[in-house]
Amino acid sequence: MSRRPIIAGNWKMNNTKAETTELLTALKPLVADAAAEVVVCVPYTAIDTAASIIKGSNIKLGAENVHWAEKGAFTGEISAKMLVELGVEYVIIGHSERRQYFGETDQTVNMRVKAALAAGLKPIICVGESLEEREAGKTEEVVTRQTKAAFDGIGKENIENTVIAYEPIWAIGTGKTATAEEANATIKVIRDTMAELYCAKCAEEKVRIQYGGSMNPKNAKELMAQPNIDGGLIGGASLKAVDFSQVVKY
Ligand code: PGA
Repeated sequence: MSRRPIIAGNWKMNNTKAETTELLTALKPLVADAAAEVVVCVPYTAIDTAASIIKGSNIKLGAENVHWAEKGAFTGEISAKMLVELGVEYVIIGHSERRQYFGETDQTVNMRVKAALAAGLKPIICVGESLEEREAGKTEEVVTRQTKAAFDGIGKENIENTVIAYEPIWAIGTGKTATAEEANATIKVIRDTMAELYCAKCAEEKVRIQYGGSMNPKNAKELMAQPNIDGGLIGGASLKAVDFSQVVKY
């Protein structure tokens, strides 16, 4: 199996530079021998600090968003080139909090994915249904639509440089997790969509799909044992070094 597990922390709007130093200094030795790929996606203001602390370690650096334009009159935004200059490798795109609170759409997700890939960043593309959509039986339809839109116009050569995170919105920060079987089944739908868009072999061998939503040291092992789950996007549990390291070493 060539899909190496990838566990990424999503710090959201947490951690000052001082807190970043403390957390990553504690985390480094705890995950030094991890088999999974380890990523921390940190706020823009902590990127420089994080980069200097994880230098030479197995922890990789990620950002939480990126603008689609190369540069220009976009007050408050950050370009892919700016992130690359700071040593960022991964970037979360289309997180449900951005879709919900900041007007992110399928179309802007796709624009950001294109800009990130063009600059050499690896997007972590988030998809997932709301509780209302799940209850209406629309989960498959929603994740299929979001996946197709995110990859519109993206060539096959980019597939191994992208990660998809399936995050049911109702499971984020709520303590509710999808059961491992539910998560696996929906991730299978996403993988099948990628097979349809690209090819069955690449979807099987190259497309890494994470689960996200209240994943923690207690449920990580069961989730990671599912055949289609290749990793996790971890919010709350990524803010504590010990908890995050336990998820990393599920
Ligand atoms: P959570 O967040 O682990 O706190 O539920 C996950 C995410 O939003 O990426």
